[in-house]
Amino acid sequence: MSQTFDVVVIGGGPGGYIAAIRAAQLGFKVACIDEWKNAAGGPAPGGTCTNVGCIPSKALLQSSEHFDHANHHFADHGITATNVKIDIAKMIGRKDTVVKQNNDGILYLFKKNKISFFHGRGSFAKAVEAGYEIQVTGAKEELLTARQIIVATGSNARALPGTPFDEETVLSNDGALRLGAVPKKMVLIGSGVIGLEMGSVWRRLGSDVTILEGLPTFLGAVDEQIAKEAKKAFDKQGLKIELGVKVGEIKTTKKGVSVAYTNAKGEAQSLDADKLIVSIGRVPNTIGLNAEAVGLQLDERGAIVVDAECRTNLKGVWAVGDVVRGPMLAHKAEEEGVAVAERIAGQHGHVNFNTIPWVIYTSPEIAWVGETEQQLKARGAAYKAGTFPFLANGRARALGDTTGMVKFLADAVTDEILGVHIVGPQASELIAEAVVAMEFKASAEDIARICHAHPSLSEATKEAALAVDKRTLNF
Ligand code: FAD
Ligand code: NAI
Repeated sequence: MSQTFDVVVIGGGPGGYIAAIRAAQLGFKVACIDEWKNAAGGPAPGGTCTNVGCIPSKALLQSSEHFDHANHHFADHGITATNVKIDIAKMIGRKDTVVKQNNDGILYLFKKNKISFFHGRGSFAKAVEAGYEIQVTGAKEELLTARQIIVATGSNARALPGTPFDEETVLSNDGALRLGAVPKKMVLIGSGVIGLEMGSVWRRLGSDVTILEGLPTFLGAVDEQIAKEAKKAFDKQGLKIELGVKVGEIKTTKKGVSVAYTNAKGEAQSLDADKLIVSIGRVPNTIGLNAEAVGLQLDERGAIVVDAECRTNLKGVWAVGDVVRGPMLAHKAEEEGVAVAERIAGQHGHVNFNTIPWVIYTSPEIAWVGETEQQLKARGAAYKAGTFPFLANGRARALGDTTGMVKFLADAVTDEILGVHIVGPQASELIAEAVVAMEFKASAEDIARICHAHPSLSEATKEAALAVDKRTLNF
């Protein structure tokens, strides 16, 4: 016997669980299916983000930052901390607790919103007159029918060809977040977001970390001036980043792993390490979805093909988040989930791709929204730029963290903000003001004229906006 719903969501990550909540708020009878298991085999909704992504990585970044501060920055404040030690098992245990709090929070939200949660794998069985039949395979077999299906099955780490993840020596994000000890030497392949965040965690804890990057440019998608400033800080910290390499043979040995590569000068090199993290991007996940049963169209990367509003080629089937085109970010997945639920209800859900913020949670943090200077140059835009260094910000000095700057890019004629780029303390929080400003089509002058609390890091944002018109007050 099949159970009937208005909306069935396959996948309980940020795209799926948020879509389910919004659909329930709009009065639909909703089911959400998610297969993630916790260590005890129980449900662990929240997807990659909650279990092996955003949340656990930020927990470890926080722990490792405390350790780094105790070792290197307390002394500046007159605090003596000798023989500082870290209990890795306790640190990982704390991270697991944070993850569980988030899993439990989502289960509570399902109950609160009267969403039926099914723990197991959801796959298309067939198209029927009443919509689609979805088979749930888990502890219990269930058959669900709904006219509207939202697929939010996320993504998986991309492995290097011929080097599968064993999560012991060759690690994806999963293994990288649950190491039992600090590796003496660690190699990471790919200096993107995961490479930098995970590389930072294990370097702060004492590992000798080298990141090998295939491209000749560091953080090519980031504003060049900001990327340069970040690279300077990482170099100073001892995070070794080699650009323009070509990775060759990877051999796992008794002691760990050996990575052969050619450096930017074309010289053959090799690195031995205890652990290797491969962070070269992620691939959309449709494993087990049985997309073929209903003719759901995928592209050559395996992503579900959708239009600008997340409609697939099948009537009533939608897809959101990492499994479709666009940036692989939790907040992008959430926005798409909300918009799809609203479209199902006949409303005008909307996602503005031009104002999706990016954050890299390293120290210094890197955050941006809108266009970079190199993008503006490439499209021949007439623009003005203004920067303000944290070195001249009173709060940053008091915090003892004056690395970096805020940079504004505004239209040369209308003064409309086209992009804001930050490298420095709390960039992840500061970027929100820029997102709001861009959503409201603010000018740099608008931000420059708003009263910002003193002393605060946000004054650097105001000053960078003033700098667009060459009238900073404190620099
Ligand atoms: P997912 O979160 O991957 O969720 C998909 C869910 O669907 C999973 O639970 C999966 O088990 C389930 N599923 C798949 N197939 C089926 C099926 N057939 N039946 C039932 N269930 C199924 N993004 C940020 O915005 N900020 C960050 O700080 C950040 N940090 C990250 C750190 C790391 C280490 C990684 C790997 C990623 C990070 N991301 C971050 C990216 C973010 O995790 C993803 O963009 C986000 O999780 C995508 O959400 P989603 O709902 O599309 O998919
Ligand atoms: P990424 O796309 O950020 O970086 C991958 C890097 O690997 C690139 O610099 C690329 O040039 C390099 N690369 C690819 N193939 C290579 C090869 N064969 N040899 C050497 N270098 C190679 O991907 P990453 O770091 O794996 O993260 C995946 C996604 O997860 C991110 O794009 C992001 O969407 C999301 N994420 C977001 C975070 C955040 O918002 N703070 C944190 C972590 C992940």
